[in-house]
Amino acid sequence: MTPIIYLNGQFLPASQATLSIEDRGFIFGDGVYEVTRVVNGQLFESGRHLKRLARGLADLRLDPEESLAEIEEISMRLIRDNGLTTGEGTVYLQVTRGAAPRTHHFPPAGTRCTVFMSAKSFVVPHDKRATGVSVVTYPDIRWARCDIKTVNLIPAVLAKQHAVEANVFESIFVRDGAITEGSHTNCFGVIDGELRTYPASNWILGGVTRDVTIELAHELGIPFDPRPFHVQDLPRLEEFFLTGTTTDVMPVVQLDGRPVGHGRPGAITMRLYEGMARRLYSGGAA
Ligand code: PDD
Repeated sequence: MTPIIYLNGQFLPASQATLSIEDRGFIFGDGVYEVTRVVNGQLFESGRHLKRLARGLADLRLDPEESLAEIEEISMRLIRDNGLTTGEGTVYLQVTRGAAPRTHHFPPAGTRCTVFMSAKSFVVPHDKRATGVSVVTYPDIRWARCDIKTVNLIPAVLAKQHAVEANVFESIFVRDGAITEGSHTNCFGVIDGELRTYPASNWILGGVTRDVTIELAHELGIPFDPRPFHVQDLPRLEEFFLTGTTTDVMPVVQLDGRPVGHGRPGAITMRLYEGMARRLYSGGAA
């Protein structure tokens, strides 16, 4: 079955969707995106995703015709039309500055933003969670607005390819000696029993799963300090894990070839995963 997608006001089979070769997403990477988790037909933390989207649109001065409420309605229709009312899935959204002859400056007033959305089923990586995953470090060569979820993802592409070639799950960016985040995940560490993560700033994407994890840490009484940890701290890491829409809470058991802690998924990590699973599967998504 060819999937049904949404493109600029129309629902249509993906095989019939076409984009202009002048689309600024294609030419410049001039756009933003979101990936939202779907559990049994419900969007997980939709409000937070829409809030981040609104911020990214405003910061990049993108103004799509579709309102945030309409984007949510379109998501729900795509979920239904693609048979995702049970099981796991993701909704992908991309907004670009539209199609116009190539100029670095903005296209003429009235150029319609391109809005593309799709919904797909998704296999949750439970097998990897059971054993934990390995990661490698990679220089953070990204720009100074990592907080915007732009489709301009070249450093993330190179970092993740590095991980694939190293036969590990993820690459972890390092900036000025600090662990910032993964190529498509946020990073948390436990040192001396305290949970730490790079603070929300222009140097990381403020992950929705990261925010929920921090809330869970407070609920569970886990000591938390939003302060970075550094490469020299890595031998002292008791636990390390990744968070993200397509990873949930994922224990890391090996970093740059060396074991993290006891080389098994950590206790704090798994408490946080269980808290996350309760939120994901309680039916209270939305
Ligand atoms: N990526 N950091 C980066 C650089 C990301 O690209 C992502 C998500 C995250 C986690 O954010 P969230 O918890 O809101 O998913 C952190 C998505 C899933 C992707 O690019 O596919």
